[in-house]
Amino acid sequence: MDIGIDRLGFYVPKKYIDLVELANKRNVDPNKFTIGIGQSKQAVPDLYQDAVTMAAESADQVLNDDNRKDIGLVIVGTESSVDESKAAATYLVELLNLPEEVRAFEIKEACYGATAGLQMAYNFVAMNPDKKALVIASDIARYGVNTPGEVTQGAGSVAMLVSENPHILKLNNKSVYMTRNVGDFWRPTFSKTAFARGKYSNEVYVDFFKTLWKKFQDKYDVTADDFSTMLFHIPYTKMGMKALRTLEGNIPDDKYNELSDHYQASIEISRNVGNLYTGSLYLGLISYLINGDVKPNEQISLFSYGSGAVGEIYSAEIQPDYTGFLNIDFIKKELSDRQKISISDYEDIFGKEVKNGDVTVLSDVHDKYYLSEIKENERLYKKLK
Ligand code: CAA
Repeated sequence: MDIGIDRLGFYVPKKYIDLVELANKRNVDPNKFTIGIGQSKQAVPDLYQDAVTMAAESADQVLNDDNRKDIGLVIVGTESSVDESKAAATYLVELLNLPEEVRAFEIKEACYGATAGLQMAYNFVAMNPDKKALVIASDIARYGVNTPGEVTQGAGSVAMLVSENPHILKLNNKSVYMTRNVGDFWRPTFSKTAFARGKYSNEVYVDFFKTLWKKFQDKYDVTADDFSTMLFHIPYTKMGMKALRTLEGNIPDDKYNELSDHYQASIEISRNVGNLYTGSLYLGLISYLINGDVKPNEQISLFSYGSGAVGEIYSAEIQPDYTGFLNIDFIKKELSDRQKISISDYEDIFGKEVKNGDVTVLSDVHDKYYLSEIKENERLYKKLK
């Protein structure tokens, strides 16, 4: 039975900052941000937005009256959780008008969460072929104003509808994974911003890729020649390149050049949005599907990495008629219609938070789903009529 991603949705906040302006404000050479890190723009979420509202926005794009009733599993992968107990997915059941007969929960393992959800969804559909699963990655990457990680912030969400006979990506059920207890990046429950040993996290990421790629080749008796595209978790666009470069000189030059070209297509959107944490691998997939020279039934590999750390490499096949199931024009328009804000406006938003008793003023809302108020310490959400 063929199982995989049938539809993909992507949500990006409506505001962004220009990283040349950020570099100037921080007295850093702009080339460090645009070339050394490889980022141009960074999404800035509004105060009424969080992992729940952004998840609802991307999921809204993959749902219709036909597929909604078949959904039996809803998983939100996030490390930007709004509640220590209640899962983001439970809010979505009401906001998105999903059937009550669903298992809805949240998965956390840093940037690996959505991949864990996707693999779980694969097994769910294998056992229940008449059902579909909704897997959503939704995060706000926050390191703090004037920190080394600031340039690698971002926000957004990717929704994947997983079903039998998928129209976008067939998962090959070939995968290798590993876990090590590593202190490269973490966010204690008391903190709204992450702590990272930045350089160390780079080393662990690259080491996980090298280890898993070797395991994958050994397990399935394949080489780089069996793939025309390798997708990576992209905390910032230079990062995946560091992993890809470990293949240079170890595989034929033509193959390396092909993989490098395809990598460039996969990072185009991330460069202009920033880190989506667990959604960034899947934003790379969307970017490749939109910007790449995609061949029918192309074989690809996907490297997922979540600090802490869990990594996985799996393979998949792009389906020939995917363009009818990914709203390419909509995504391009959402990206191009965004509004640039000043660095001081971004700092102002970053420093604020919605508190108990606060009610969102409707005229401030520019999205479909929003946090309407916090009442008795409970977050309440609404959809614009
Ligand atoms: N022109 C061009 N390039 C320049 C430059 C200039 N003027 N100045 C510096 N550079 C280059 C450097 O040579 C360096 O390139 P390489 O990485 O290829 O060596 C690059 O710009 C970055 O420079 P530094 O290493 O000096 O930068 P930094 O000390 O400010 O730290 C960082 C960079 C470690 C990525 C930091 O932003 C950070 O801690 N980010 C958060 C952690 C992170 O994103 N880790 C990624 C893997 S972990 C993960 O994946 C989990 C997750 O999603 C969070």
